[in-house]
Amino acid sequence: MTLTRKDFPEGFTFGAATAAYQVEGHKFGGAGPTHWDTFSATPGNVVRAEDGALACDQYHRYGDDFDLLKAGNFDAYRFSTSWARVLPEGRGQVNQEGLDYYDRLTDALLERGLKPYQTLYHWEMPSALADLGGWTNPDIHNWFGDYVEIIDAKIGDRMEAIATINEPWCVAFLSHFLGAHAPGLRDIRATARAMHHVLKAHGEAMTRLRAKGRDNLGIVLNFDYCEAATEDPKDQKAAATADAIFNRWFIEAITKGTYPAEAMEGFAPHMPKGWKDDLKSHIHQPLDWLGVNYYTRHIHAHDETASAWPNGRDVQGHRATTQMGWEIYPEGLHHFLTRMSESYVGDLPLYVTENGMAWDDRVVNGAVNDPERAAFIQSHLAAMKRAIEDGANLQGFFYWSLLDNYEWAEGYEKRFGIVHVDFETLQRTPKASYHMLKDILAQD
Ligand code: FCB
Repeated sequence: MTLTRKDFPEGFTFGAATAAYQVEGHKFGGAGPTHWDTFSATPGNVVRAEDGALACDQYHRYGDDFDLLKAGNFDAYRFSTSWARVLPEGRGQVNQEGLDYYDRLTDALLERGLKPYQTLYHWEMPSALADLGGWTNPDIHNWFGDYVEIIDAKIGDRMEAIATINEPWCVAFLSHFLGAHAPGLRDIRATARAMHHVLKAHGEAMTRLRAKGRDNLGIVLNFDYCEAATEDPKDQKAAATADAIFNRWFIEAITKGTYPAEAMEGFAPHMPKGWKDDLKSHIHQPLDWLGVNYYTRHIHAHDETASAWPNGRDVQGHRATTQMGWEIYPEGLHHFLTRMSESYVGDLPLYVTENGMAWDDRVVNGAVNDPERAAFIQSHLAAMKRAIEDGANLQGFFYWSLLDNYEWAEGYEKRFGIVHVDFETLQRTPKASYHMLKDILAQD
């Protein structure tokens, strides 16, 4: 059975998502350097050492991209504003061209009847602040708060919704413990600090925006279904530890004002001074909505050979995977939507702010046939529908991504878009999955 707009509650929002560094072309318009420019320029970090200098050139082509969204019957666009575009040095001198760009972009969305969903930080740490330790610096929340006020003064009144941070797990753990994203650290003290400071920055932004009267504020968290490889208590513990770090740390801090014991087992000795007070003063405060990003599951086992906490390793799942090697597991999306409402946020509006898959899509005779993606979208829509039936107050879904784009450490190789981008000519070609969405989102 094919699900359509009619299978979802009245007013349900359908959108597509992107992020600044992945699509804009960061070399244009006076943006400052970010830690991704230097991470990618260091051999071994990013496929072919590619960066976001040109990306999809959305900086000049946003009008065409928004025409595609409108023609595709979408209601909304999730995008991010780049800190380094607004403040090239991270602090101080404002780049007027950058502010004007986001002003034009906002108008272009509204003119087409598309609702703007803004994310304030989707990973472009300005290099000047990275030099000062980036997320490990205890002042980062204040610098972030200042940037937030500047961009908010320009476009905030026209945003349908505003998210503070995209995927704090990636910002902190993936980037400071696993070393897979900028700044590429593998250091537990830096990780503990980033895990905490990113939430403090979220809280600071919330407080500053509340003071301006904003009532449409949230955060975008990513979740990964953590399953134990066996019944063995050691494997169970490996899965519980991964779940605590990935899925519980951020939402428990925000909604309950605590950090999970299974994660503190490793991080406690490395937490910054005053972290308990910060939970009360900054982090534990109400949201207006919660964004859920979901892609896959991992199966966890105890690692006998590991020399240090968290002593776990991933075991491959059994299902089909995407071009990323990520297992396709729609049940996990149902799990997190119902788990969020039952255990953390009750009736608070939820949005699936990202879900999608990469595939090695090719243009053949002017068309891109991607039945795998259409099936992926349908199976995840079914999971969302079941979650709504089971009581989750889910109000919208954003496909990741509108465009093939700069997939971080994977460079331009992994294609998540419903619109194909030729990275030589920058030509856009809507894929078959775009046409499917256009059909199922038609109003009558
Ligand atoms: C998420 C990121 C997004 C994109 C997708 C595939 O972790 O938020 O920028 O890279 O994964």
